[in-house]
Amino acid sequence: MGQCDEKGLKDLETPLRPEALRSHRWFGANDLRSFGHRSRARQIGLGTEDWAGKPVIAIINTWSDLSPCHTHFRDRVADVKRGVHQAGGFPLEFPALSLSEPFQKPTTMLYRNLLAMEVEEILRSHPIDGCVLMGGCDKTTPALIMGATSAGIPSIFLPAGPMLSGRWRQTVLGSGSDVWKYWDQKRAGMISEEDWAEIESGIARSPGHCMTMGTASTMTAVAEALGLTLPGASSIPAAYAEHARMAAASGRRIVDMVWQNVLPDDILTRAAFMNAMTVVMALGGSTNAIIHLIAMAGRAGVELSVDDFDEISRRVPVLANIRPSGAYLMDTFFDAGGLRGLMSRLPDLLDGEAMTVNGRGLAENLHGALVYDDDVIRERGNPVAHEGALAVVKGTLAPDGAVIKTSAATPRLLRHRGRAVVFDSYEQMMERIDDESVPIDQDSVLVLRGAGPIGGPGMPEWGQLPIPRRLLQAGVTDMLRISDARMSGTSYGTCVLHVAPEAAVGGPLALVHDGDEIVLDIDERRLDLLVAPDELDRRRAKWTAPRPTFQRGFGILVQDSITQAHQGCDFTFLAGAEGTPEPAIH
Ligand code: FES
Repeated sequence: MGQCDEKGLKDLETPLRPEALRSHRWFGANDLRSFGHRSRARQIGLGTEDWAGKPVIAIINTWSDLSPCHTHFRDRVADVKRGVHQAGGFPLEFPALSLSEPFQKPTTMLYRNLLAMEVEEILRSHPIDGCVLMGGCDKTTPALIMGATSAGIPSIFLPAGPMLSGRWRQTVLGSGSDVWKYWDQKRAGMISEEDWAEIESGIARSPGHCMTMGTASTMTAVAEALGLTLPGASSIPAAYAEHARMAAASGRRIVDMVWQNVLPDDILTRAAFMNAMTVVMALGGSTNAIIHLIAMAGRAGVELSVDDFDEISRRVPVLANIRPSGAYLMDTFFDAGGLRGLMSRLPDLLDGEAMTVNGRGLAENLHGALVYDDDVIRERGNPVAHEGALAVVKGTLAPDGAVIKTSAATPRLLRHRGRAVVFDSYEQMMERIDDESVPIDQDSVLVLRGAGPIGGPGMPEWGQLPIPRRLLQAGVTDMLRISDARMSGTSYGTCVLHVAPEAAVGGPLALVHDGDEIVLDIDERRLDLLVAPDELDRRRAKWTAPRPTFQRGFGILVQDSITQAHQGCDFTFLAGAEGTPEPAIH
């Protein structure tokens, strides 16, 4: 019955009995309530042949008309259903919040926990035995996994897959990264309005999520490294025929997972999370992965801290030569061997015993994996960076930590001392950044506050603060920037992010004045505000908390219950692995 033997290994050979299926409580009983379930199922044209003795598989689909990364999910649902039917299951589609990164304001991060709650409650309250989670656009991946983990039923993740490379004339364009690059060039007068319009038309040309190593590519790779996808699923471009076949295969596999009672807790061990962190580093992945992995681990009852990331970062080289840390894009990465190829170069750094959705260990799934292009997926002796895609710094400015993507930063700024120029809000930053009366030079430290989980609200991706126009025109391409915001995984530059505690709850960031000296030292993992303690005490005594953003609605939950960045920004009442009671049968 999917029980564990004395070694803790799950017996996958003895399947569940049909009467032990969750859905049997709805369809299989002989009482007043089950009469209602069956008669209403017949109302939608179903019959006993559809449900009797079959696992009910929910397909959680984050498609919407305004989710360009998931455009193909309407077709892929049909592929997943095909697979479920082939394996003898009963598929049902459940639409869920699409969390469309390009459109939702102020930021999809504000709603990650809402999707997680929705998924958890959909799964718990319906006659569902297993689920296929369809996501890929940034926050959908962690949200779907967080919800399914808390619901505690067999789950498999189907990544949306990256879109194809963009193009402008002879130039290959990457999501996000090239937006920031050409926006700066436009502000500096280096490209025309016509050029800018052509780039707008060429940068996103197919279904799929961003094809740089942004948050989407990072988090779908995380899902695979955790063991929640079939091998190789995360690298397949959305538009490829392989993607449709992977969708059907995922549908087939979830049916077997139900019979074998393979639960998220069987897969989401500390070893799996360490594997995922290792893969994030080797990919040069997004800083957002830190927040999401801590939140996901919290749902599985696994302790994970920012210090774990820093420790792994020091020993894992960056091997994926993908923008923004490298040169290529995700379709080239797929052709070069994809994530399986990359992981095959890390056997000593990964726990190969960690179980995956196909019932096999990670190492077994990597048998036969090859790399076809050593420039795209580098050998260990010739990495993109010898260590440290990401670093965690602490100090008097960030007592609970802050994060920097060192692989996308300017090396000379990784040890830097400069005077602060402070912006209290995004609006104030946009007003002042090009004001020539504000004393800013290339050694200044740009500080944005009020952009954290509560202050933002929702921790928007404002952490790549703009460089003043006059400095851009003088050829300055990077400056030290510090904030309690997040940054798009497609962004680059020397940007210290996720400063915790955030300014809105009275962290030291709230006390910085224009002209204060700040020191960043990556070798020492330090971020310090050089202001005497008694002066900081005086400033703290005068500090008042900002007025709450929300007076009603979902935002109240955010204000009252969200944790800080170093704790994963989950809601306090959702963290933890204690189960929630199954719904009563009446
Ligand atoms: Fe969806 Fe980038 S906009 S992944």
